[in-house]
Amino acid sequence: MIHQVVVRGVPEWVDAGKLLGQPFTSEDDAFTAELDTEAAADLAARLRNVGVGGALLSVQFRPRLKRPAIRAGRTRDARARRDTTPGFTQPGAQWDDEGRYSLTPEALALVMGKAANKRDVTDLGCGVGGNTIGFARAGCTVAAIERDPIRRRMALHNASVYGVRDRVTVATELSDDATGDLLFIDPPWGTEWDRERTVVNDFPLLVTSLERIQRADFTELWAKLPPSFDPTSVPNATAQAVFGTRPGDCHRIKFVWLSVRPHA
Ligand SMILES: C[S@@+](CC[C@H](N)C(=O)[O-])C[C@H]1O[C@@H](n2cnc3c(N)ncnc32)[C@H](O)[C@@H]1O
Repeated sequence: MIHQVVVRGVPEWVDAGKLLGQPFTSEDDAFTAELDTEAAADLAARLRNVGVGGALLSVQFRPRLKRPAIRAGRTRDARARRDTTPGFTQPGAQWDDEGRYSLTPEALALVMGKAANKRDVTDLGCGVGGNTIGFARAGCTVAAIERDPIRRRMALHNASVYGVRDRVTVATELSDDATGDLLFIDPPWGTEWDRERTVVNDFPLLVTSLERIQRADFTELWAKLPPSFDPTSVPNATAQAVFGTRPGDCHRIKFVWLSVRPHA
């Protein structure tokens, strides 16, 4: 059976082709395609209850999908999720529970690192070092800051494993008089973050970092935030959606990469 599928609510800063993973045509804010039942059910499973940029996506099927097709789609989706972009790939890397689930996948951290263009980076809340190492491998000097002593030690250990220990310093907190070029934050999302909409005030570390940007202590702020983050809650911000690289997450937004410069 063929279903007409209409998806609405994809922000213009999201690559709709990557998100939908199917040939859709677009008109105004609607993306439309004709898909067989299996492809439609896969899309339904993947986009179910997914908020992007501050609102849930709207996904409609005509004719509607039947329950067995929906169930089969969810089963395939759960199976596909086993093959996602890996965290650290080097043997010997260390992490604790929080460090593992909040780790930026190695390939994506390296993409961000290269985009930093060898600037000096302050990684505020470095965890076990996923982004710190991505920046350092791309030639940046990194001031890594982590309040948890175990993760701080692991970040240094992991920097050694990746051969970039000489580009990384660590500290426990960002001092009030610290200044620099690029300030990067990956604030804790918690396991219960709102899948529909998150905003600036949900992330205390983002609020304090924005204050430092407005004081011009740093020239730019980058933040890694959940797909549901509404970038319009931050004045002067630009957003891009970062997708995974493996079959299980190449059509999923892993995080929003927010960039903010001081007001003119
Ligand atoms: C989401 S994790 C960072 C993960 C990291 N980007 C990676 O890829 O490995 C956030 C970390 O920020 C730390 N953190 C939160 N608030 C902090 C603060 N004010 N100062 C220093 N570290 C902080 C937490 O302890 C946690 O380890």
